[in-house]
Amino acid sequence: EEIKIFCPATIANVSCGFDVLGLALDSVGDIMTVRKSTEEGIRITKISGQELPLETKKNVAGVAGLALLEKSGLKGGFEIEIDKKIKPGSGIGSSAASSAGAVWAMNELLGRPFSKLELVQFAMQGEQLASDVAHADNVAPALFGGFTLVRSYDPLDIVPIPTPDELFATVIHPQIEIKTSDSRKILKTNISLEKGIQQWGNLGGLIAGLFQSDYDLIGRSLEDHIIEPIRSILIPGFDQIKSGAINSGALGCGISGSGPSIFALSKGQDVAETVAQSMDKIYSDVGIPFDIHISKI
Ligand code: HSE
Repeated sequence: EEIKIFCPATIANVSCGFDVLGLALDSVGDIMTVRKSTEEGIRITKISGQELPLETKKNVAGVAGLALLEKSGLKGGFEIEIDKKIKPGSGIGSSAASSAGAVWAMNELLGRPFSKLELVQFAMQGEQLASDVAHADNVAPALFGGFTLVRSYDPLDIVPIPTPDELFATVIHPQIEIKTSDSRKILKTNISLEKGIQQWGNLGGLIAGLFQSDYDLIGRSLEDHIIEPIRSILIPGFDQIKSGAINSGALGCGISGSGPSIFALSKGQDVAETVAQSMDKIYSDVGIPFDIHISKI
């Protein structure tokens, strides 16, 4: 028995929702093939596209898979092949795609004994390995699709959020690598009450905007006064890309996950394409190779 699946890239944080909000992309993702095996444990048999460890305990798909396998009580195991299209350290949930894909495929092959919430918990073990923190804002949207809110980590509570029909994401990936663990270390662990008020006002506004398909409200809410000012320093050309995207009609623009990818949300494909052209033009002058893609969310 074998299953072949698409594991979507994801945008975590979405400006105002650090560690709690994320969305799944349909234009970029890994392809994973998973098969049942009589041999116990998880074996990563092949990884193409990127240099990543095949050793089960050093691979996020292996670690997430082991968490599921242990709970399942299954006597056998699984073999996993990954065609890795999402670059590690790109900021669009590379580790999450592998972790979420592995547990989703295994659950299918076992006849779906686990809920999506349990799959998120297993996949978070992969995130723990990749970034030292078991954050769920990439694995949750990878497993649920669309936008998801991590309402609480303890107990884990995931809330799927509806996506307005005309919402598109444009993502530019400058080809430098930023490790999530590194870009977390530079963050302050305390924030002022004033910044907290701005941030939860925006997060509430964004969620309300998504529910009501209120694009102006979505646009007004896509702001981050806490993380972005610190992390954007690591991303050459961030400020120019952001003002270019806003001037081209994007609703908002920010860092995708822990960077270096930058995302913009737009109403309609035409605007998303205009934003892509602006990003292309601006980044051609920066001197770092990049790629750009557009997804309907
Ligand atoms: N919320 C995480 C962070 C996502 O920003 O560190 C990492 O992709």
